[in-house]
Amino acid sequence: MSYQRLPYAEWGWAELRAVLAAVLGGRIRRGPGVRQLADGLSKLLNVPHVLAVNSGRTALRVGLEALMQLRPGRNEVIVPAFICPAVIEVVSSLGLLPVAADVGPDLNLDPGACGQRIGSRTLAIIVAHMYGCPAQIEAFETMASTAGVFLVDDAAQVVGEFAGGRMLGTFGDFGVLSFAQSKCVVTGESGGGGALICHQNDILPIVRARVQALAPAGGRLRALAAFVWNYLLESHTASLSYRWQRLRQHFPGGRPPALAPGRISNLDAQLALAQLNSLSRRREQRLRILGHYADALASAGGSWHMPQFSPGRYLARVMVSMPPGVDLESCRRQLRQESVCTRQGYPTHPGGPHSAKRAPELAASLIELPAYAGMTAGDVAEVCQRLHRVAAAYRKRVPNRQDGDDHEQCYQ
Ligand SMILES: Cc1ncc(COP(=O)(O)O)c(C=O)c1O
Repeated sequence: MSYQRLPYAEWGWAELRAVLAAVLGGRIRRGPGVRQLADGLSKLLNVPHVLAVNSGRTALRVGLEALMQLRPGRNEVIVPAFICPAVIEVVSSLGLLPVAADVGPDLNLDPGACGQRIGSRTLAIIVAHMYGCPAQIEAFETMASTAGVFLVDDAAQVVGEFAGGRMLGTFGDFGVLSFAQSKCVVTGESGGGGALICHQNDILPIVRARVQALAPAGGRLRALAAFVWNYLLESHTASLSYRWQRLRQHFPGGRPPALAPGRISNLDAQLALAQLNSLSRRREQRLRILGHYADALASAGGSWHMPQFSPGRYLARVMVSMPPGVDLESCRRQLRQESVCTRQGYPTHPGGPHSAKRAPELAASLIELPAYAGMTAGDVAEVCQRLHRVAAAYRKRVPNRQDGDDHEQCYQ
């Protein structure tokens, strides 16, 4: 079987043309693409104001800074216990306290758990649509306005999907998009682009001024080269790159520098525009692959499922919940040797005194499976077959609570 890769990016001639036009025209940092991208997103999302920046993190930071300015006495931000660590990183770096609330079976913030965390110090609730699956954003909008707290619609992982007739990212007080690898719109690795969608008259002038004051876009060619290397050669170099990254972290200065907030470059904006043009074609492709996975997993019995799947629902990533008792790490290692690339779910954020129960359980069972342009029903069936075989071979020996003996746990 050929190398089965995770979603990373799907670029074609349009993206190549965008790169060549920016590079050969000497318009890498500045150019008309930035304005065109803001207009294109504004049209797609049907909102008047979109500010393009260099990452989802920058968009989140700028928006939260504006909220802090408006309500200086409040310092808590409710976040889902299962979330991309970049979100926690931004909240904490602003001196705010992330308060984790549990997630529901769809891996998204649970409205009931969130409601219990709202207090007099709550500044905002951040709701993310994990792996593209829409959260109950309308319920959160009502909850936030009733409680008098801000709502952030973090649509970093999904572009162009609806909830209740409105595009994700356009709810609440401001929205966030990201154009980093493995997202719906990819301009490069993290730092390639993102956007802040603002609907609030109080917030808009503040975020506009802050975006204006951001550092101008830096040179992007090195980042582009690294991205293209990973994109085209990952199947040959993935384990080498992984070991190199790990080794680098042990040397002083070896960690990659934290992403500096900045404006988006013309090159990345042109790439985002090319990606927006192919969004609906790529969406159809993904729905087809998701359908193949649903069929292949259903034939393996009830213990295997995609917690976020529902027929016709777009998902940016294929997340599968493994049956209990499987040694996930050994499985992933073995699958890698068999040319099947996988990824684990995010680490969960500890919930403090009210720790979240469902998030760590779900996260510990999640495995991301390959999805790429051109993946056939046969490829999907083969991936699932290997997954089942490997999972059966790596069932953990778990202690028997009654007598302390180890025994093999049955999960079928
Ligand atoms: C939900 C969520 N919000 C924000 C971000 C940050 O986006 P970026 O990597 O573009 O800074 C991410 C990144 O993966 C994310 O998943």
